[in-house]
Amino acid sequence: MTEKTKYILISCLTVSFVIYTSIIYQQPIVPESAENSKMIMEGKMIWQNKNCGACHQIYGLGGFLGPDLTNTYSAAGKGPLYISAFVAAGTPVMPSFQLQEHEMSALLEYMRHVDESGKSDPKQFKINYYGTIEGQ
Ligand code: HEC
Repeated sequence: MTEKTKYILISCLTVSFVIYTSIIYQQPIVPESAENSKMIMEGKMIWQNKNCGACHQIYGLGGFLGPDLTNTYSAAGKGPLYISAFVAAGTPVMPSFQLQEHEMSALLEYMRHVDESGKSDPKQFKINYYGTIEGQ
């Protein structure tokens, strides 16, 4: 390889790196505000401490006694009030949880965050013949 070819090759790589990087950094990132992040973390701790994951999955992971809750927050006919009603009242199979108002808000904020950041139920996904999956 001549010096000139090397120079052209390095220039091309550098230019494509700069263009690709600038495209990536122009993608909008919608960060949670500091206040929201704190609520989400609190909600996650409640989810862990109350052991919701023993019976429920999020992102397809967790127990199988109850349904996957990844997208319950945005599901038609469900949503935050539906979730808080289940948590406060329980069912014959699910225990009720007496949460304080701010604990319930934090849990709901966590459920909203999970809903926005993931899709489930994997059983509903379409599996392509080449092995990748598509959500609905
Ligand atoms: C002992 C197991 C168990 C635990 C622990 C549990 N759940 Fe459940 N949950 C269930 C079952 C089972 C159902 C389905 C309703 C039924 O069969 O009674 C359910 C239903 C729900 C539903 C309704 C889901 C839907 O799509 O209709 C929500 C929301 C929910 N649980 C939230 C929670 C949260 C939040 C926690 C933790 C604070 C939790 N659950 C802890 C067993 C549990």
